[in-house]
Amino acid sequence: MNILISEQDIQKRVRDIAADIHRDHPEGVHLIAVLKGAFVFLSDLARAMPGHCSIDFMAVSSYGKGSISSGQVQLLKDLDTGIEGRDVVIIEDIVDTGLTLTYLQDILRARSPRSLRTACLLSKPSRRLVDVTVDYVGFSIEDRFVVGYGLDYAEQHRNLPFIAALDNPK
Ligand code: IMP
Repeated sequence: MNILISEQDIQKRVRDIAADIHRDHPEGVHLIAVLKGAFVFLSDLARAMPGHCSIDFMAVSSYGKGSISSGQVQLLKDLDTGIEGRDVVIIEDIVDTGLTLTYLQDILRARSPRSLRTACLLSKPSRRLVDVTVDYVGFSIEDRFVVGYGLDYAEQHRNLPFIAALDNPK
């Protein structure tokens, strides 16, 4: 396991993203975190956010137990509250092929928020299968399978405070 992004670098970038989100939503923002991977990012981001913010969660499954995208997105948990007329930011751990995020943006846009933006801690641009807009990107990385800071391999490693590359995930 190689450390790709240190805890210190992540924390600095998360503070910058929180400031950017606040700048774009001075009246407050509704953060929707995508479980499970975004729980750590959300937690640090929300605490770094000045101003008003409310939080809700969605859970989707796109990968099963391995590291290959099935391309099929399943909604496992829906929001607790409606988002009509609200300023919403989706909080995602990583955008890889873009299929999961496209699915989420489509179903949330259909619920008529006043604005809908997306923050992803990580992006792997070379893996994209669909063109998807990400308004706030923490780090763009090359095509390697990564774990830590909420991201897992078969439910392991989410607790690492840094991002590491797993070179041979099965
Ligand atoms: P996409 O639909 O291919 O963009 O994949 C998005 C989801 O796949 C993310 O929310 C993650 O849960 C998972 N994922 C993609 N790449 C990685 C990775 O390198 N490590 C861990 N999970 C990943």
